[in-house]
Amino acid sequence: MTDFRLADRMSRLGTESAFEVLARAKALEATGRSIIHLEIGEPDFPTADHIVEAAIEALRGGHTHYVPAPGIPPLRETVANFLGRTGRMNTTPDRVVVTPGAKPIMFFTILALCGEGDEVLYPDPGFPMYESITAMAGATPVPIPLREANSFRIDVDELAGLITERSKLLIINSPHNPCGSALTRQDCEAIAELAQRHDLTVLTDEVYWAIRYGPEHASVLDVDGMAERTILLDGWSKTFAMTGWRLGFGVFPAALVEPVTRLAINSVSCTSAFSQYAAMAALEGPWDGVDRMVEEFRRRRDIIVAGLNDIPGISCLEPHGAFYVFPNITGTGLTAPDLAARLLNDGGVAALSGTAFGPCGEGYLRLSYANSVENIKAALDIIRKQLS
Ligand SMILES: Cc1ncc(COP(=O)(O)O)c(C=O)c1O
Repeated sequence: MTDFRLADRMSRLGTESAFEVLARAKALEATGRSIIHLEIGEPDFPTADHIVEAAIEALRGGHTHYVPAPGIPPLRETVANFLGRTGRMNTTPDRVVVTPGAKPIMFFTILALCGEGDEVLYPDPGFPMYESITAMAGATPVPIPLREANSFRIDVDELAGLITERSKLLIINSPHNPCGSALTRQDCEAIAELAQRHDLTVLTDEVYWAIRYGPEHASVLDVDGMAERTILLDGWSKTFAMTGWRLGFGVFPAALVEPVTRLAINSVSCTSAFSQYAAMAALEGPWDGVDRMVEEFRRRRDIIVAGLNDIPGISCLEPHGAFYVFPNITGTGLTAPDLAARLLNDGGVAALSGTAFGPCGEGYLRLSYANSVENIKAALDIIRKQLS
């Protein structure tokens, strides 16, 4: 086999362990083992019929060609209307960029803004791509520790202490993966004040916006003037159970739309044409399917939180959003990677070590409850047995 010398930047590019653990779990399944999958970050619901039908109709209607790089105009308009209607932000279609999944919004934002000498602040634990893409871009990742004692929310005083003259981009994520936490209105106001005082650009990852258990969603975008320095990241993957469709969007300050569109042209050209018609149907169609999904997640959340808190050595906060629990496992005497490996290899439960989300994840596991109540209960029994 040819021994390729990879480009230096590849040594700085990390990965997402969820995909690696999934591969290991599938390999075990191929040997005949039965595995309960609590590692995956996607809703276990089908995409709603009216959305699938819209895609089929678009395919039959010949929407099978290249389309404009930032998205088809009617979808960009639909996104802007949707954001206004749901009270999230008032924006215009020319600020909306549609991408294949929400991940490219992160990638393009960081590539467009950050390079050598720039510092990027991001939550730890947090979605692993924030750190990975920042490092690959040649910028310096600066973790903001999220602590259980602060309900896994950003401690604004601590954040203030991490800001330097080189800080360029602040990434926040609420509702939060992996912790299930949510920023409060006061948090958002204080974060916005810091961003304005230190002239930071903010990337607010709100991909779990719809999956929340409290009455309201707080965002830095609610603060006057923040839309001019904030990129909103969201998409269809989680809200509409459409992870495989690859559909996401960003809303950008005016000056960033052209550079980000240029990055799209250089990498993906555009987002799948017929998927974008399905995306419109999702935003304009009935919402009761989303409500039912969130109610079901709430039911499972209550079962998994109660079950985990009943296992000696484990304690678990109640998540406010997304579909993950982030239990504290320090009472088991095991490290998080050791416990995750033991659960998979000996118990057949696939979970992620908290360290997959940064060093501050030591002492925690991430379990996804996007799985049936039956499987969740079986997994809880296995965890209890493994630890007794
Ligand atoms: C916090 C967070 N942001 C963004 C994404 C990316 O979502 P998409 O599938 O739309 O690329 C995920 C997916 O797991 C996520 O957890």
